[in-house]
Amino acid sequence: MTSPRTIGIGLLGLGTVGQGVWKHLSEKQNDLASRLGVNLDLRRAAVRNLRKARSVKIPKNKITLDPYEVIDDPKVHVVCELIGGTTKARELTLRALRLGKVVVSANKALLCEHGPEIFAAVRKHGGQFLFEASVAGGVPIIKALREGLVANRFDLIVGILNGTCNHILTRMGEDGLSFADALKEAQALGYAEANPTLDVEGIDAFHKASILAWLAHGKWAPRQRALVEGIRNIGPADIDFARRFGLALKHLAVIRRDFNAGWMTVGVYPALVPNREILARVSGVNNGITLRGDVVGATTLAGRGAGGDATASAVIGDIVDAIAALTSGARQGLSSDDLASRERLGKSVRMGDLDEIISPFYLRLSLLDKAGVSEGIYRIFSKYKVSIARVIQYEHPNQGRGTVTLSTYPVSEAKMAKVLKGLKSLKTVLEEPVVLRIFSPET
Ligand code: NDP
Ligand code: HSE
Repeated sequence: MTSPRTIGIGLLGLGTVGQGVWKHLSEKQNDLASRLGVNLDLRRAAVRNLRKARSVKIPKNKITLDPYEVIDDPKVHVVCELIGGTTKARELTLRALRLGKVVVSANKALLCEHGPEIFAAVRKHGGQFLFEASVAGGVPIIKALREGLVANRFDLIVGILNGTCNHILTRMGEDGLSFADALKEAQALGYAEANPTLDVEGIDAFHKASILAWLAHGKWAPRQRALVEGIRNIGPADIDFARRFGLALKHLAVIRRDFNAGWMTVGVYPALVPNREILARVSGVNNGITLRGDVVGATTLAGRGAGGDATASAVIGDIVDAIAALTSGARQGLSSDDLASRERLGKSVRMGDLDEIISPFYLRLSLLDKAGVSEGIYRIFSKYKVSIARVIQYEHPNQGRGTVTLSTYPVSEAKMAKVLKGLKSLKTVLEEPVVLRIFSPET
């Protein structure tokens, strides 16, 4: 009987995700090895700072400052890129792919910005690039899209894709925390990016939405053709309005596709979601994605979207797939044929006109506290034939100003932009209005 093959695994990065992967892979090593019929060798991890305290115990000789000691080691077959960023990570990923290795990545920024180059290297050198952990943490959305739901075309994919934003909005809404304190908490829990601006300004969610859009429709959405808004401007009055009218404030990623007209749109923005939608109940660090397929109907996946353990679960899932492929020869991940067919598909898709998207809107206006102010506001709405559905006024005694929150009936982005311009031109409107979309699967 021949002895089982030994598969070497190397990690680039031992931060929140890397430590989670090392911990759970060590704990499950024997079980996974016997299931896969191989020996697993957790060979080495590269870091920036050897003296940093880590939550996992790793022999000193297994940690290095030189990432090439991991990548170039002929006994490392699977390289996990868990350092983040797009410069060094790109260089290291391409190097591993050129050596024909399997790269398992959690790096959505890298994939979104350099996807075509990465997959060109995969096709040229015969390696693999697996990226389950790049979207929605522990939720296996990539595998679901690629495999379980392959029979479908999706006219709508809508999701909560950033755990940090969902944590912040939940803690502000349910526990009254300030934005700053809730963000600090998300950072301490390991949910936020090294640069949390990526989270709170919607860029991280855009990276993930763009990966899902590419998987579903074969087209990488250029950032300048997408709507990207974060959650910095959200305040207690917005959360209060949502609660009073059976809505929940969520940071959504929305990918719409019209198969007849040939367009797709990608938007990430804070939105008010009716409580009847499953996504309205996805809270805390959890992510949730509803995919509306022509065969399966609407299907929702939800679970922890960030943090070392949840993300390690996705990384280890990819490592196991990679090992199965290495030992059986049956390919996992996206094959050359699959990549080529996605490329063909993408050529028939154009980015849609965001101005034409229709939804009900919510606005928060800070107004001078003076007789006749409301009439001026209503005149602007009526000039552009935008109907108001609900209004709440908050008084701020002795401050000389008041707050009005209101919602509209469905209206196009273009028309709402005109209303906003009109409102901003009024001397009685004291601050930049806060504008949110009210999500409806039908519009
Ligand atoms: P961390 O900042 O916690 O960890 C980054 C790790 O990479 C650290 O161990 C750091 O070393 C190491 N590192 C950075 N640059 C280099 C370099 N040039 N050479 C060698 N090592 C380097 O990040 P996370 O673990 O949070 O995130 C890693 C990746 O996973 C990112 O792409 C992120 O977007 C993604 N991700 C993160 C999730 C999360 O919940 N945190 C969830 C899903 C994806 P040192 O420790 O010495 O500083
Ligand atoms: N910063 C990301 C988030 C990590 O909060 O969702 C998971 O991708």
